[in-house]
Amino acid sequence: MSKILRYIERYIFFCLLIQKVIDIMIIEMYYNVDMTSLQYKKRGEIVKQIKLRENVFIPEIGFGTWKLEDQELAKNSVLFALQLGYRHIDTAMSYGNEEAIGQAIKESGIPRSEIFLTTKLSNDFRGRDATFRAFEQSLQRLQTDYVDLFLIHWPSPKKYRDHYKELNNETYKAMEELYFLGKIKALGVSNFLIHHLEELSTQVPVSVNQIEFHPYFTDWETIEYCQKHNMTIEAYSPLGRGQILKDPVIIKMAEKYQKSTAQICIKYALQNNIVPLPKSQTTKRIQENLNVFDFEISEEDIQILKSLNKDDGKIGSHPDYADF
Ligand code: A2P
Repeated sequence: MSKILRYIERYIFFCLLIQKVIDIMIIEMYYNVDMTSLQYKKRGEIVKQIKLRENVFIPEIGFGTWKLEDQELAKNSVLFALQLGYRHIDTAMSYGNEEAIGQAIKESGIPRSEIFLTTKLSNDFRGRDATFRAFEQSLQRLQTDYVDLFLIHWPSPKKYRDHYKELNNETYKAMEELYFLGKIKALGVSNFLIHHLEELSTQVPVSVNQIEFHPYFTDWETIEYCQKHNMTIEAYSPLGRGQILKDPVIIKMAEKYQKSTAQICIKYALQNNIVPLPKSQTTKRIQENLNVFDFEISEEDIQILKSLNKDDGKIGSHPDYADF
C-alpha cells in the first residue's frame, strides 16, 4: 500500500514539474522574455517579503498601475506581471482599473492569498458611510472579499479642504472597523506629510505611507519620520515617471553596474528600505524592473544618487494644495 502511495506521490511531483516547465516555456515564447535571468525558482519566490507592523508580509517590489487606464491593457499587463513573479499589485479607485485588475488576478489562477493587493480611497469619499460604500464597491470591482492594504489616497481633497482633519479621522476610524472585520489586513495613507500624520488619531497605527520618491525628489524629513514611527514607505513614481531615466549621472552609474537606469532607480529605493511600485505596460520593462536582485549599489554611489535630489524635482501635486 505504502509503495503505491509513494508511486502516486512521485507521479504528482513529476506532473507538477512538467507543468512548471511548460509554464516557463509558454511565458518565454509568448512574451519573448528570458525567465532564467529572473532567477525563477518557483511562483512567488522572486521578490522577498518584508514585514509590516501588523505582521502582514508585503513583497518588497510592487507593480504600479497608475495610468493603466485602458482595461484590456491593464488586465494584460497585470496578468503578465503576475505570471512573471510580481505578487504585489498597487491600484486605486481613481485609476479606473480595479475591474481589470480583479479579472487579471482571477485569470492568473494564483491563489488570492499569495497576492498582496492595495487600493486607495479616492478624494470623492470621506467620512464613515462614504468610506464603507466606496470600499465595498472596490471589493466588488476587484472580485475579492478583502484587500491587503487600504490607503487614504490624499490627505486634503480640494472639496473637503476646510475640514479635512475631522474627515480624515472619521474616515480612518471607518477603515479601522473594516480592519477589525478582517476586510483590510493593513491600514495606511498616501501623500501624507508629517503634519497630516500627526493630525490623525488612530487606534490601529498607520502601517504604510505611500509617497513620491525617486532620485530627483526625496522628502527625507517625511521618510525619516515614518521609518522612526515604524511605518513602511512605498515609492510611487520610483522612475520619476520615466522622466529621470536620461540623467547623465544615472546613465553612467547604470553602465558601471551593467544595469538599466530604471533598475538603478528601483534598487535605490530598495536600498533605502522603501518599497518601489514601478509602473510599466511594456513586457520587456515589466521583466526588467523585477530583475534587480543580482547587484548592490555601493554606499558611495547611493550618496551620489542622494545628491541628485532637487527643490523642483517633485513631479506630482503637493499634498496640501492639490487641485483635486
Ligand atoms: P511604459 O509603461 O510605456 O513601459 P513610474 O513608475 O516612475 O511612474 O514610471 C512609469 C513610466 O516609466 C512609464 O512611462 C513607463 O513606460 C516607464 N518605464 C517603466 N519601466 C521602464 C524601464 N524599465 N525603462 C524605461 N522606462 C520605463
